[in-house]
Amino acid sequence: PKRRKKGRRMTTKFSFDVLARDGRARKGVISTPRGDIRTPAFMPVGTAATVKAMLPDSVRATGADILLGNTYHLMLRPTAERIAGLGGLHKFMNWDRPILTDSGGFQVMSLASLRKLTEEGVRFSSHIDGSKHMLSPERSMEIQKLLGSDIVMCFDECPALPATDAQVAASMALSMRWAQRSRDAFGDRPGHALFGIQQGGVTQHLREESAAALRAIGFDGYAVGGLAVGEGQEAMFGVLDYAPGMLPEDKPRYLMGVGKPDDIVGAVERGIDMMDCVLPSRSGRTGQGWTRHGQVNMRNARHKDDPRPLDAACTCPACRNYSRAYLHHVIKADEIIGSMLLTWHNLHYYQDLMEGMRVAIGAGALAAFVANFHAARAEGDI
Ligand code: GUN
Ligand code: ZN
Repeated sequence: PKRRKKGRRMTTKFSFDVLARDGRARKGVISTPRGDIRTPAFMPVGTAATVKAMLPDSVRATGADILLGNTYHLMLRPTAERIAGLGGLHKFMNWDRPILTDSGGFQVMSLASLRKLTEEGVRFSSHIDGSKHMLSPERSMEIQKLLGSDIVMCFDECPALPATDAQVAASMALSMRWAQRSRDAFGDRPGHALFGIQQGGVTQHLREESAAALRAIGFDGYAVGGLAVGEGQEAMFGVLDYAPGMLPEDKPRYLMGVGKPDDIVGAVERGIDMMDCVLPSRSGRTGQGWTRHGQVNMRNARHKDDPRPLDAACTCPACRNYSRAYLHHVIKADEIIGSMLLTWHNLHYYQDLMEGMRVAIGAGALAAFVANFHAARAEGDI
């Protein structure tokens, strides 16, 4: 295909191609009019129209092809209508590559107060000013369209844990009725994608029922939702041993809200193509660094006089230009640059990890890559 400036392929369509397989893992590319997304992909979280502490060009420099935005936060402030009036979310935040937006249901349940859930949708009070709002499949599709989202997520419900099997089943059935309403309200929008979200907790037959409902409706991609909500890694991997195989082979599979580096590696091994998590950005702002050797708490006094970089093998600005002693100092002093540098490093590390897995899958060498990954973490930060 022809290429236009910034190496973007000319396409008016949304498509997904699997380029290589290694076990259940896949390497691929999602093509969109706003550029390609190399998979397995990690999506930095830009909840409030910003990846906190980062300029968009810096996020791109870490290797990100796509960002995640949030319906819930943006509808409350500054509002979807205002963003649409200002030319859409891409222009508003100065990021012209793909954006995926979550639909709001998950965030309403964790952030809003006075929630009232009905067949129609959710009424709730804003966590910002207490004002009253409503989200439904139709309203969520409208907001995500006003934002100009490239990958739109179905409006779903993720049940809070602990939940009985009957509660998980009823919630999943509601999410599947909402998935049909999301599909109907989304309509036909060439170049834009709508992803379904599988629910069903950690119960295999509910996961299969949910997958069957979504396959019957038909989506451009399929998410595995309802995980990383406190069930633990073993239970999550248990679900990921079968859930991706229930979703169409020829469409991207997105694991929502995951995770730590070892969660991500395990998910990719099990056939997941896309992920998002606040962890690298949020924990960067509290002084946590993520490296090949695991998590490093830069607040720890052992770094006080350490002239070495956080990770000598990393090419990010934090590691190229600053010592551990400096990072420790600016974090302890609550200087803004501390958040900036550690967020940059963490996002760079996550994108390096994804690129390493893409290369390994392409070479049929993912098992060796994963063995190396675990060996380096076992060594610890030295
Ligand atoms: N983010 C993390 N998990 C979920 C989920 O189950 N649904 C939605 N919409 N977003 C999520
Ligand atoms: Zn670095």
